[in-house]
Amino acid sequence: MIITIDGPSASGKGTLAKRLAEYLGFAHLDTGALYRAVALSLIMQKKDPSDVAAAKAAAQTLDFDTLDNPDLRDEKTGKIASLVAALPDVRAELLAFQRNFAKNPPGGKKGVVIDGRDIGTVVCPNADIKFFITASPEIRASRRLLELETRGKPVDPGQILKAVQDRDARDETREISPLKPAQDAHLLDTTNLDIDGAFEKALVILNKTGLFQKL
Ligand code: DC
Repeated sequence: MIITIDGPSASGKGTLAKRLAEYLGFAHLDTGALYRAVALSLIMQKKDPSDVAAAKAAAQTLDFDTLDNPDLRDEKTGKIASLVAALPDVRAELLAFQRNFAKNPPGGKKGVVIDGRDIGTVVCPNADIKFFITASPEIRASRRLLELETRGKPVDPGQILKAVQDRDARDETREISPLKPAQDAHLLDTTNLDIDGAFEKALVILNKTGLFQKL
């Protein structure tokens, strides 16, 4: 059973994916962390994100132990992740891992929840249920600001809104696997919803699709 959740940064997709996976007893994969890990590797090697060979090598030799490194969540890592994510060589390297995770959920789990930008459109086009999560750029910037403040990394609010808008533009307009809803995705706008509200709405949709009968 494959559930995909795509959407822009700070739309709430990651939190929703984690929560649904826990609730359903499914494995969870945050694919943004893969692109962030490639970015962090380049930052640590002091390589430029436009260095395609270095980015491809970083994706090929990805150290999965770095996926919970807190530096993955830094604003700079996110920006560079968005730049390397536009490189076809990097996407090709990460595709097999993501598809394999979907096909063979770790820990013998009976399903997966995978979140990202192109999961419903490219990585798992035959997924059982697809969500596309949105929220206004202003609300997403304020969530991001709160997250960074909580982590002791305060930033200028104006800068964050601009960073969110720049990242949206890059992710939506790149040639390969741009951020867009799959035709059969369920749209969920979290602008006026907290995480409990988003979770409840997702459960209603899952119920309507008959997912619980299939488990
Ligand atoms: O979801 P996130 O903010 O952690 O993702 C970081 C960047 O990685 C994002 O700006 C675009 C890229 N990404 C992608 O291109 N495809 C995915 N499936 C996931 C993330």
